[in-house]
Amino acid sequence: MKRKRLDEIIRVDHAGEHGAIAIYKGQLSALNLIGDKKTSFIISEMAEGEKVHAKEFDRLVKERKTRPTALMPLWNLAGYTLGVMSVIGGRDSVMACTEAVEEIIDKHYSDQIEELESSGQEKDILKTIKKFHAEEIEHEKIAKNEISENTPALKAFKKLVGIGCKTAINLSEKI
Ligand SMILES: [Fe+2]
Ligand SMILES: [Fe+2]
Repeated sequence: MKRKRLDEIIRVDHAGEHGAIAIYKGQLSALNLIGDKKTSFIISEMAEGEKVHAKEFDRLVKERKTRPTALMPLWNLAGYTLGVMSVIGGRDSVMACTEAVEEIIDKHYSDQIEELESSGQEKDILKTIKKFHAEEIEHEKIAKNEISENTPALKAFKKLVGIGCKTAINLSEKI
């Protein structure tokens, strides 16, 4: 695997994990504001997982001297805003946000796993991504189970979040 490609992988995953933290931060501050402790508890458990993921990619960025994406401030702002907005939409839209994001991340990590496996290189990074992938799938399941009704509006919201997420992934690999 070329150095350039490995840098892209580390850069985008580093951005994604920090983006996830930003979304959950926005959700948690809005949930605390309205006093929804039940939803807040589920979200904060998942947010803890993202902190571990982000920390590992922080370490890899340093170790491999990978340049983090220049778009980090944008993802922080966009993620936080999305998080707050999802709370305004109600409990189902909070969970729909996680479901939609994790669905994209599931695919994204699957693709990277396949790529790393066929390269036969970077076994440690492969192992890390496999572990995180399994945890993201768990988040996706939790969120999906918490949704009470998949209305057309909710489905549209998920689609929109998914598109945003895909765009963020494509941009963060390169920029
Ligand atoms: Fe994560
Ligand atoms: Fe996650």
